Amino acid sequence: MSVQEHIHPIFDRILQRSDKEALLRQRAKVIWLTGLSGSGKSTIAQHIEKELHQRGLLTMLLDGDNIRSGINNNLSFSDTDRIENIRRIAEVSKLFLNCGIITLNSFVSPTNEIREMARNIIGAEDFLEVYINAPLEVCEARDVKGLYAKARKGLIPDFTGITAPFEAPEHPALEIRTDQMSVKESVRMLLDFILPIIQQQA
Ligand code: ADX
Repeated sequence: MSVQEHIHPIFDRILQRSDKEALLRQRAKVIWLTGLSGSGKSTIAQHIEKELHQRGLLTMLLDGDNIRSGINNNLSFSDTDRIENIRRIAEVSKLFLNCGIITLNSFVSPTNEIREMARNIIGAEDFLEVYINAPLEVCEARDVKGLYAKARKGLIPDFTGITAPFEAPEHPALEIRTDQMSVKESVRMLLDFILPIIQQQA
């Protein structure tokens, strides 16, 4: 007998997402930023969050380094743990989504399989995949956290781009080349893309 047999979800008796969205006067989506470490995901997410806040939109920002020091602090960077990392994040994102909140996710999420899993959990119509793209050489030259240098010395196992794979998304909703645009231009591009989707008509 499975544990699930004794679970009785009450989803049909709780307030609906549309009630929350009406209250907040916005449409909820999960904006999923994927890309190499150092590509600019967190920087763009932080700026976007401020821009949306100024427009009266309620957001939640989930970021790899933060999540991995809290709810996912028991996970490594093995293939299995990366899958579990993203599975939990996708489930948490769905909770925010159902609360009407615009959720900005900044995770390496390195493979098509991992991002497909997130898309399936969240629901394709609410999952906006944004590829924050800068070539490995550029990310490595930036080396904001000094991790690439450590990875090259063999001090960090399974480091994405060096000793672990990164698969570029095949059909992202949007691609932002941060090696060719300033932070300001990148933020503008993402803002122009998401505002028509998340703003409710008056
Ligand atoms: S994911 O691959 O599981 O999606 P996640 O976004 O949560 O990764 O975490 C990535 C962040 O953890 C990076 O920005 C970097 O700061 C740090 N990090 C530490 N070790 C690794 C590693 N082996 N591979 C990639 N990122 C790492």
